[in-house]
Amino acid sequence: MKRIGILTSGGDAPGMNAAIRAAVRAATSFGVETIGYFDGYTGLVTNQYDELDDRSVGNIIQRGGTFLGTSRCPEFLDPAVRAATAHQMRHDGVDGLIVIGGDGSFRGALALQNEHGIAVIGAPATIDNDVWGTEETIGFDTAVNTAVAAIDQVRDTSESTGTMFFIEVMGRKSGEIALHTAVAAGAAGVLVPEATLELDALVGHLKRSIARGKRSHIIVVAEGDEAGGAFGVARIVSGEIDVPYRVVVLGHIQRGGRPTVRDRIIASEAGARAVKALLEGRTGLMVARQSGRSVEVPLQAVFDNRSPLPRLDLLDLAIEISG
Ligand code: ADP
Ligand code: F6P
Repeated sequence: MKRIGILTSGGDAPGMNAAIRAAVRAATSFGVETIGYFDGYTGLVTNQYDELDDRSVGNIIQRGGTFLGTSRCPEFLDPAVRAATAHQMRHDGVDGLIVIGGDGSFRGALALQNEHGIAVIGAPATIDNDVWGTEETIGFDTAVNTAVAAIDQVRDTSESTGTMFFIEVMGRKSGEIALHTAVAAGAAGVLVPEATLELDALVGHLKRSIARGKRSHIIVVAEGDEAGGAFGVARIVSGEIDVPYRVVVLGHIQRGGRPTVRDRIIASEAGARAVKALLEGRTGLMVARQSGRSVEVPLQAVFDNRSPLPRLDLLDLAIEISG
């Protein structure tokens, strides 16, 4: 293998740049050329790319987002488009592809390998941490830290004024950000798409806390919660409890920003390992994390298994220790 492609796909996540950097530098050390496709599968389909070398990935390890750009590319769902893309890759001498993204992106990658023999490796990156087979995706730690830092600031106002805050965090289908944020930020309650929290129980819990003199009340709500996000939950709870309340939607600030040390390390290990796996002939894999170590998991297993169960035990813990 003399030339490999790399792209970032789906939602951007802090640490994607660190993964690209590691992959390019690992490839260079083995004498392999790397090209970076722009905007995910869009660049692959339209053959828009740059040749990357050690210098072109300098000064990016600390940057959020992805300097290659990312997108959602519905065209890639079309087998005929994948066939034309594979033909172009072969013409350009690209034998392998590293895809940094979520499980949707990996489906496209595995289709390319199964249908056209292009060797692929996935590196899981999404702030949602919802990819089966890895305990942590690139970007998750940064997103949770961002959410917790924001809530720490909101708590100052909550404590000073007795206002109840309903904080909406990202996660249309996954409660992982909400669960980890809730425990780390000392929330009184947390609502996620994967579980139904009895709002009556939450109201009772808040009333008892208020009766005991507690003034700051933080309720974390994942955007995909069935009660209708933070506004929906606030509407119901505020009808039962007569204290002032506010809703804060943290939104895309969770997706950007400097990656944490943890995300930089996870991304660096994943990028370098992806290259080694490709060069050693191990393909159709995702470079994952299990028990805190870098491992390889077949991409097919990622699709065959259900979504990872979120840490629902954190839901009980958040409430148990919220006082
Ligand atoms: P994520 O990778 O974060 O899960 P998406 O599910 O939006 O994000 O997928 C990103 C891109 O991957 C899609 O826009 C499409 O180009 C490609 N993709 C997703 N699913 C498939 C599939 N079943 N077959 C081929 N390509 C796919
Ligand atoms: O997949 C990451 C994520 O941040 C989800 O948590 C969120 O629902 C979604 O992306 C929002 O993305 P967009 O604004 O691009 O639709």
